[in-house]
Amino acid sequence: MPIRQALDAVRAEVEERFEAMRREMEERFGAADAGRDEVFRPLPEPSGLDMPLAEALAGRRTERSFSDEPISDQVLSALLHAADGINRADGKRTTPSCMNWQEVDIYALKPNGIWRWIPERRGMLFCALDDIRRDAYVVPTALTTPPLVLVYVVDDRRTRSKAASLAEAIVERLKRPEWSSDEIEALRRRACVLDVGAKIQSVYLAASALGIACSARLAFSPGKLEARLKLRPDERVIAAQSIGYRPKSILDHIR
Ligand SMILES: Cc1cc2nc3c(=O)[nH]c(=O)nc-3n(C[C@H](O)[C@H](O)[C@H](O)COP(=O)(O)O)c2cc1C
Repeated sequence: MPIRQALDAVRAEVEERFEAMRREMEERFGAADAGRDEVFRPLPEPSGLDMPLAEALAGRRTERSFSDEPISDQVLSALLHAADGINRADGKRTTPSCMNWQEVDIYALKPNGIWRWIPERRGMLFCALDDIRRDAYVVPTALTTPPLVLVYVVDDRRTRSKAASLAEAIVERLKRPEWSSDEIEALRRRACVLDVGAKIQSVYLAASALGIACSARLAFSPGKLEARLKLRPDERVIAAQSIGYRPKSILDHIR
């Protein structure tokens, strides 16, 4: 097939997948919210990540205090590029995933609603107007609620793709006890958690380069967030990450 035709086919497939996802989000969150003007928000080219790696590593730390200043699209773009940007022509990402499942979806919880990151389009798909940032905390306080919470969701359907099942069938045929179906299931679950961990560290490093505060977080009820995000039974919330500008003074916190 000539290159041009092949590229057109890939473009059409990406477009089709995006449309299917948009329809799915509309169904999940209801037509009223989806009917808003801004259904998809493209993000600018990622920038601000030029710091040498040694410096970014030296500055990497957890900070739990945030100003309530909204995160700019520029910063959001850089963070999401670090977490799950496309860095190769074949669609592979800035962070690794087991068997290239690409099973982790990232939702951004912001004061203006719930958004879902679409790497293929470098932008955010609007899901709902609800501000659910506080649902990502056990004890939310005005002092600690950041302007942006990233939520890492695993879609188990992608870990059971045809290619993955075929690889498992071959492995099982080898009849090695360490590759029983229980072991494979355990591996699958470990892999998903590791794939999220890689993204969390990448965002920590990007936050360090961008000079903003960031904290990985598990202390919340995944069930509550799964309900608020209207996830399917085969989707699971694994972790969250709170992000915001550092407060300039104590008064910066008071709303
Ligand atoms: C998997 C994971 C879960 C975490 N969960 C929370 C959390 O729920 N709340 C919190 O304040 N910090 C949380 N943290 C941040 C850790 O407390 C922090 O990384 C640790 O104290 C070391 O500090 P440092 O990141 O500055 O090196 C978590 C970190 C990781 C890696």
